[in-house]
Amino acid sequence: MQTITISAAALEEKITARSAHVGILGLGYVGLPLAMEFAQAGFRVTGIDIQESKVARLNAGESYVQDVPAAIVKKCVAEGKFRATSDFSEISTLDTINIAVPTPLRKTKDPDMSYVVSACQQTAKYLGTGKLVILESTTYPGTTEELVLPMLELSGGKVGEDFFLCFSPERVDPGNPQYQTANIPKVVGGITPACTRLGALFYAQALQKVVPVSSTRVAEMVKLLENTFRMINIGLVNEMALMCDRMGINVWEVIDAAASKPFGFMPFYPGPGLGGHCIPIDPFYLSWKTKQAGIEARFIELAGHINGQMPHFVVDKIQNALNDHAKALRDSHIHLLGVAYKRDIDDVRESPALDIILLLERRGCRVTYSDPWVPTLRLDGHELTAQDPLRMAAQADCVVVVTDHRSVDYGAIADCAKLIVDTRNALRDYPSSKIVRL
Ligand SMILES: NC(=O)c1ccc[n+]([C@@H]2O[C@H](COP(=O)([O-])OP(=O)(O)OC[C@H]3O[C@@H](n4cnc5c(N)ncnc54)[C@H](O)[C@@H]3O)[C@@H](O)[C@H]2O)c1
Repeated sequence: MQTITISAAALEEKITARSAHVGILGLGYVGLPLAMEFAQAGFRVTGIDIQESKVARLNAGESYVQDVPAAIVKKCVAEGKFRATSDFSEISTLDTINIAVPTPLRKTKDPDMSYVVSACQQTAKYLGTGKLVILESTTYPGTTEELVLPMLELSGGKVGEDFFLCFSPERVDPGNPQYQTANIPKVVGGITPACTRLGALFYAQALQKVVPVSSTRVAEMVKLLENTFRMINIGLVNEMALMCDRMGINVWEVIDAAASKPFGFMPFYPGPGLGGHCIPIDPFYLSWKTKQAGIEARFIELAGHINGQMPHFVVDKIQNALNDHAKALRDSHIHLLGVAYKRDIDDVRESPALDIILLLERRGCRVTYSDPWVPTLRLDGHELTAQDPLRMAAQADCVVVVTDHRSVDYGAIADCAKLIVDTRNALRDYPSSKIVRL
């Protein structure tokens, strides 16, 4: 029989009455949309972030996250439903705390848990009793139980009685107009059944579908399965692209035809390499953890290797294309069309464009770029500014389509460029001998 503690009952009442004071630690691509969903669902939400510039912008009704319209931030601030701060002592006034801070990799591909540790230390300091804490940062299985729980227990409370702890993976897909925070099903698993019940109840107030699972470990592993699935399938299709290239077969045509099979096949597409804060990083959280358990994550290592080779393959492809036009790579002007890590977003984190630019610069090229979403680009100590795509396409020795943003006029590019290397099949409708496809 499950016992309901006084703390759990009181919190349950506040959550269902929407009088719970909701706190979000980390107001980035994940935390800000979540904060807005709860504020719009009628909760009073306080967002806490270490970057004071972000706090100031939000309190002024501005948004820096593409998927969150400024009008929504403005409205929530004006109605007193949302406020941002850098003052962690406000945690003591909260009933629920979602932690959505970065979980990058160190250079050695080991997890960098410093942001999670710091956010949890602050949470533990002001925990008190009756709070629900949910970690949303993507991490290795076992983090919530092995790393977060001991820190929160230092407050003297008991999990499942005095405070409640869950893990809930974030599945946000920036730039996706169809699926956003509110309509993406939310998986949640708690340390105890009472934790899971409260976590699921909490999300059900603002999100359309909640999927409770039996533990924090299962919830952590769900996210890693999803992202590893993507990473490995992209690795597979990138290897297919390398094979097709060698055999003179159009890999895009192969994939489109294979996708006509109505069962047992899901199309993935090759590209210049992985990008973003998730797919290139998260699987290595899993391989790091499994290594400790004596299991080698061979699929992950192999896919990581193949995907990591793609920027080099693209540069070789540019070199060969130029050679075929009696031109050397050195001293050539190469123009990159698109530098964001995927279509129609402004995020360049881990973008393969960064590797391609550095590789080309090292080989003596002059590199320019255009991207309707990215006005400036900082890399390796220098800054590039976005140029006019058509002017540059006409001037450059080779144009490289790295990101296939929808707003670009590919027909016009195809008309004026001398040579194009297309890593995304963006110019599929413009057959021309000057276009070289991946
Ligand atoms: N971006 C995505 O598409 C996505 C999708 C799913 C999951 N995730 C995961 O969600 C987590 C957050 O990612 P993101 O993209 O929102 O990162 P982000 O960098 O956009 O935002 C993180 C925010 O946390 C703040 N921060 C850092 N340390 C803090 C601390 N101690 N206390 C309070 N705030 C702190 C930063 O200033 C930043 O504003 C990561 O674990 C990521 O892997 C991201």
